[in-house]
Amino acid sequence: MTDTILDRVRAYHAELTDIRRDIHANPELGLEEHRTADLVARTLEKWGIEVHRGIGKTGIVGVLRNGDGPSIGLRADMDALPIEEQTNLPYSSRNAGTMHACGHDGHTTMLLGAAKYLADTRDFRGTVNFIFQPGEEGIGGALAMLNDGLFDRFPCDAIFGMHNRPGMKLGKYAISPGVGMAGGAFFDISITGKGAHGARPEESVDPVLVACHLGSALQAIVARNVPPQDVAVVSVTRIQAGEAYNVIPQTATMAGTVRTMKRETMQLVEANMKRLASSIAAGFGAEASVDFRVIFAPLVNDRDHARSFADAAAELVGEDNVERNKPPANASEDFSFMLERVPGAYINLGNGEDSAAVHNPAYNFNDAAIPYGVALFGRIVERKLAK
Ligand code: NI
Repeated sequence: MTDTILDRVRAYHAELTDIRRDIHANPELGLEEHRTADLVARTLEKWGIEVHRGIGKTGIVGVLRNGDGPSIGLRADMDALPIEEQTNLPYSSRNAGTMHACGHDGHTTMLLGAAKYLADTRDFRGTVNFIFQPGEEGIGGALAMLNDGLFDRFPCDAIFGMHNRPGMKLGKYAISPGVGMAGGAFFDISITGKGAHGARPEESVDPVLVACHLGSALQAIVARNVPPQDVAVVSVTRIQAGEAYNVIPQTATMAGTVRTMKRETMQLVEANMKRLASSIAAGFGAEASVDFRVIFAPLVNDRDHARSFADAAAELVGEDNVERNKPPANASEDFSFMLERVPGAYINLGNGEDSAAVHNPAYNFNDAAIPYGVALFGRIVERKLAK
């Protein structure tokens, strides 16, 4: 069993590698994946899979039914990043300033491979929904699909996703049994005071001074409001005010990011940030408003589904090659919003120890990883939808 599924999907390896390199050479930014979505849709149709287009703008869902039974969703992301590629590969990006630097070209390809494998073998009973998501890189693709009725139109009892991991050996997997990745928010704070001559501060309400006090006060949220057993990061990454040496400006703006491992912690940070901003500004006679946007929910794996996913991986590569207690990462992933609606799990698979980091211009998805992704997607379906 274990050898046969990896061997079986290796028969598609050359065809899938061609697809991966074609997507790599033609990267598209989030919610603009028109060519990629069309390639996905046509490929699924060629393999006899029912296709639904335009879910969450450029999202695609393929549906494969095999008798009555539960349904599983398998998800991959399709978007590239605004990075100038520096790999010198023969199939380098043909779109200047755009690059598949996070391996979503590989994720899309592996999900296509799983569709082909499951359509060929049909060793399951129930329905598989292949979810090709647009715009993962902080631009709301998962929510776009959810708001388009993803799980109403394609109900799923469980969902599974994966991401390649540079620095981890090829053929290895790692998964967290609960919280796997941080939630992330962006914030903008605008402070309005009263401009004046730099030499006559008594006529001003100085927004720069408010920003300085607020910048340090915000760190008190982590130190004094968040329970010590929880994790939060508050980073002010931008403060802007003024243009001249002798002018106290009228306004100042601040921006930054927040990371937490729980939704409640994020809400706690937001409430305290708003209170500090308005009350510190008021203390100086100024006004402040906060725009706080949650871009990623924390990614939380269902314990049982995570165990099943790890069991399926161990079947393929042996227990020694599966890390079942991966500590949570501070990076974020918007599959988290889907996991808030439907229980499931998200796993990492090795992209090789010498792989460049994701979001680096030298990064490339490792084609040798394709069979490991395809086989794991295939195997989790066969286990969850056992005949
Ligand atoms: Ni990614």
